[in-house]
Amino acid sequence: MKNFLMAALMGTTLMANAVEAKTLVAYFTLTGNTEKAAQIVTEETGADLYKIELVTPYPSEYKAQTELAKKELEAGTLPPIKPWPDNIGDYDVVFIGSPVWWGTMATPVRTFLASGVLKDKTVIPFVTHGGGGADRSFADAAKWCEGCKVNTDGWSGYSRITFGLKNWAKKKLNEAIK
Ligand SMILES: Cc1cc2nc3c(=O)[nH]c(=O)nc-3n(C[C@H](O)[C@H](O)[C@H](O)COP(=O)(O)O)c2cc1C
Repeated sequence: MKNFLMAALMGTTLMANAVEAKTLVAYFTLTGNTEKAAQIVTEETGADLYKIELVTPYPSEYKAQTELAKKELEAGTLPPIKPWPDNIGDYDVVFIGSPVWWGTMATPVRTFLASGVLKDKTVIPFVTHGGGGADRSFADAAKWCEGCKVNTDGWSGYSRITFGLKNWAKKKLNEAIK
């Protein structure tokens, strides 16, 4: 009973804080893995959800995807993305989800991070990968998002496995709003 009450109180605190600190989960996905993770982060934090979409969609074939991503990374190309939410300026905390591409965050996510729109906000990255782990993702997020407060203690998960994600999301939001 005591534990239940404690848990209920902690939940209330988190919800109240989440309302005070407006929180967004922004993510990009090609095959749904990062989308699944983004939905979980949204549920745990009470955040709004924004899907980053390319103006020109990526090819559907894996080999073509990897070749294009490599070219973009090597050239530092930022592929244009569709407009982000009009009220982006209202958010204090932005979780940012990406698949790992060639050891780092996907190029459409880089476009968003480098846009300048997240300046002065707390940015908390998470990634899904195909076995190589987060690699340079979190360090690159900090590099690309100039003037942002990037928390490089990100979450990474293999494919659709979301082990530890719920607790991580709650912990990171609490740290951000302390
Ligand atoms: C262009 C491309 C590059 C990738 N590079 C890596 C990589 O460097 N390391 C890795 O572990 N997985 C890599 N993957 C696998 C994806 O990170 C993994 O499948 C991810 O969960 C896909 O997320 P999504 O379903 O949200 O698109 C790559 C996939 C693609 C399409």
